[in-house]
Amino acid sequence: MSQALDEIKIGGLGASRKRVEDNRFIRGKGNYTDDITLPGMLHMEILRSPLAHARIKSIDASRAWDIPGVHLVLTGEMMATRNLAWMPTLSYDTQAVLATDKVRFQGQEVACVIADDPYIAKDACEAIDVEYEPLPVIVNPEQAVAEGAPVIRDDKDSQRDNVIYDWEVGDRAGTDRAFEQADVISKLKLHYPRSHPSPIECCGSIADFNRATSKLTVYMTTQAPHIIRAAVALVAELPEHMIRIISPDIGGGFGNKVPVYPGYVCSILASILLERPVKWIEDKSGNLISTGFARDVYLDGEMALRRDGKILGVRIHTDADHGAFFSDAQPSKFKIGLMHSAFAAYDIPAAHLTARGTYSNKAPGGVAYRCSFRVTEAMFFQERMIQAAADDLGMDQAAFRRMNFVRDEDFPHRTPFGFLLDSGQYAKCLDVGLKAIGYEEFRQEQAEARKRGRLLGLGISTMTEPLGAGNSREYDILGIKMFDSAELKVHMTGKAIVRTGARTQGQGHETTWAQIVSHELGIPADDVVVEEGDTDTAPFGMGTYASRSTPVAGAAVAMVSRKIRAKARKLAAHLLEVSEEDVEWELGRFYVRSAPDRGVTIQECAMAAYSNMPDGMEPGLENTAFYDPPNLTWPFACYIVTVEVDPETGVWDVLKMVAVDDCGVRINPMIVEGQIMGGLTEAYAMANMQFITFDADGNCVGSNYMDYLLPSAWETPGFELHSEVVTPCPHHPIGAKGIGECAAVGGPAAFVNAVMDALSGTGVRNIDMPLLPDRVWEAVTYRRDVSGAPPVRTDD
Ligand code: CDP
Repeated sequence: MSQALDEIKIGGLGASRKRVEDNRFIRGKGNYTDDITLPGMLHMEILRSPLAHARIKSIDASRAWDIPGVHLVLTGEMMATRNLAWMPTLSYDTQAVLATDKVRFQGQEVACVIADDPYIAKDACEAIDVEYEPLPVIVNPEQAVAEGAPVIRDDKDSQRDNVIYDWEVGDRAGTDRAFEQADVISKLKLHYPRSHPSPIECCGSIADFNRATSKLTVYMTTQAPHIIRAAVALVAELPEHMIRIISPDIGGGFGNKVPVYPGYVCSILASILLERPVKWIEDKSGNLISTGFARDVYLDGEMALRRDGKILGVRIHTDADHGAFFSDAQPSKFKIGLMHSAFAAYDIPAAHLTARGTYSNKAPGGVAYRCSFRVTEAMFFQERMIQAAADDLGMDQAAFRRMNFVRDEDFPHRTPFGFLLDSGQYAKCLDVGLKAIGYEEFRQEQAEARKRGRLLGLGISTMTEPLGAGNSREYDILGIKMFDSAELKVHMTGKAIVRTGARTQGQGHETTWAQIVSHELGIPADDVVVEEGDTDTAPFGMGTYASRSTPVAGAAVAMVSRKIRAKARKLAAHLLEVSEEDVEWELGRFYVRSAPDRGVTIQECAMAAYSNMPDGMEPGLENTAFYDPPNLTWPFACYIVTVEVDPETGVWDVLKMVAVDDCGVRINPMIVEGQIMGGLTEAYAMANMQFITFDADGNCVGSNYMDYLLPSAWETPGFELHSEVVTPCPHHPIGAKGIGECAAVGGPAAFVNAVMDALSGTGVRNIDMPLLPDRVWEAVTYRRDVSGAPPVRTDD
């Protein structure tokens, strides 16, 4: 007789449980880095370079030192005496902490002032006299490799030009053969503009060095506390066990809070020197001009096609503008992240990718903004290229995709770039999307509207993306293998605490990790508290980015719960006075196989672990699990948008958008929907309004929210979400795949494809994002492509 608990009622897998963290957030009780005040705390401000490229002739800080309330002025020269003027980046490059020889981008950190309050510190920054000698400026890869271009990184002995890497992956010869056999070759060139993750809370840190205990505690806005601890130990040469990184509530990260920034290093050094807590909170302009840019890649590709629509091969070339320092956070062995996941959803026999990275006089870029290491650029190019190829063949967009998808029966499928896809129902997702948008009806309506001069368009984006790095065999960051861990402690009353090395920044881990424990052990989710973000208490983890939490840390939570259940089974056998083999499990309860009425709950087992354990058993009910995933997870998504373009103004409006996401088993459907809506909103922003550009002098245009636009509820369209396609991940313990970034990754192409579809027949092949009205108007009016590449100075 089963007495299994109703999983949904206890908040287990599949329950749309309200987010527990919101209780404190909506009451204004969150605890962010800037909310923390420590006794004796000082404040740090940063002086930034006004120029994009200039030699520093002199820095005179004497006027700043004279201002009452100033405790310390740090310059590059002082950092150099402690071997801290430069720091290693996450991509085996170096980055200036405070400039010594040159400034290499506008907004670069030149000096820091530590004072009694932030206003004194800011005033003192302005009292630092820096003499610059301007140098020629480079703002794009073309300029970077032009003959006679100034070498930006002349600090590096081995650097003779501005090229960081020339890298390739795939089968060059096989791809050449595919192109020889092609009936049609389709080509596309585009620029994915530089953007900024732009979390509402900027970066910041409070370093607190205690000379008496030799302990350094740093409160900071980091998505990866353990990695920061390791970096501080290695860069500052402090003992790792004497460093405690605490990441309190984070007001959004989106990849912006993964790297190590100069502000962190300076606040730590200042605290060590002054033996007082030092707080640095970046302002919005500082965040927008200097920290963690994303994208900025020029993509150029071609596709070999058979007349009937079969794709035979793909060539892609990428030119990535990394800014002044190569600081991408990405797995070590891939120079351009997971760009080679492009076209993974399509069964393509041969593919080859070449990638070149160059320096420019821009802030360092390449963070994985809601993205798994360049997957966003890859999927955008893929879906734009698929649309262009279908157009070139005169084929229906949906039919072309369906014909080339990896089929359900072909999993596991190895992509030509070497990834192993394990599961999916791509055609089914597409069909659900087409039905929801009313595909056939819309095509008729579109044709009718055309006759009356109205431009309607429909854009499809279908993609799978690799989420959840690593496995440790293939994925590491600076040699640290990518895996995660979870620790679970079940108290004697059956309540529990679970800790992971991930760090939630709005994704709802406090809610969903408890649901996984609940699913595995039958303990109500409300009885499980989740804690993350303190390196002294949380087990090791690589942090939260690249939608890796559920695939890796979430899996570790399931695995540690299973360890607990295994021990609880022994306790149950002892309590029921039967052998372990005679004990069966149902949610929340063990019972005797031959007498199902005789059972004990998980809570009774927990009590026994502290009060009535069998002889020889170690007391307590606690454990830790390290999880090294066998593979990445591969969610699939189909996004379809319909739009109307006004040819007179270039303004385009979304008529309808549908999203079909298959992320395997959904732990919390409501949170998953929130993630998708957030991602689609960011996708819409990218397609419609958001970019950071630079003028020919390297001045950053977009250093405030008047220029860098965030979509509000007013302009964001409604989204219709579909969840009927579920393909569990075969290797994840609960069948879940990542979801956090899918919509931000796959969404932009759907919007752009829709506008381009509205313009079909005009001869316009591409408009670079964002599709601002003036760009669309120019394309429609002059029937030409519109590039978004930054301007190049022509007057000298
Ligand atoms: O790494 P990150 O937390 O950004 O992304 P994620 O692992 O995709 O998870 C985002 C949120 O969605 C987390 O709270 C997950 O637990 C939840 N989620 C879910 O409920 N079901 C899934 N199949 C995937 C994620």
